[in-house]
Amino acid sequence: MDRTRLLIAVVLLSTLTALPANSEEADDGPARKLINSQGCKACHTLEGDGGNVADSFAEIRANFSRAEIRLKLVNTSGKHGKSMIPDFSHLSQEELETLVSFIQPEP
Ligand code: HEC
Repeated sequence: MDRTRLLIAVVLLSTLTALPANSEEADDGPARKLINSQGCKACHTLEGDGGNVADSFAEIRANFSRAEIRLKLVNTSGKHGKSMIPDFSHLSQEELETLVSFIQPEP
């Protein structure tokens, strides 16, 4: 009896942990982490979660190229977010590219 339960639990758990690996999508975990740690969702909505101070990431994806997004994040005049926050040039080049290609998957 207990063995059966244990077996079921093990099978369920391994299905759960196997799911992300089976996914066809690229691993967007690092980008999502950055969006959370940098507080982007205070103003931008990602998949229904976030603020309405600015366009949602879906709208940005529809309207901006990678180059435009990159410029916006490393804005030398530091006016991102209607001057409410400085730019994101403290991020490494790799982190910036991770964000840019997540927001705009089209090269
Ligand atoms: C304090 C609010 C705020 C935060 C936090 C914020 N943004 Fe923005 N963002 C804005 C506003 C407002 C605009 C549009 C006006 C402007 O250009 O400043 C904008 C514009 C943008 C744009 C250009 C597209 C457009 O609609 O103009 C991109 C890309 C962008 N944000 C990405 C990000 C990312 C990625 C983060 C986190 C690393 C972030 N933003 C954090 C408020 C914010």
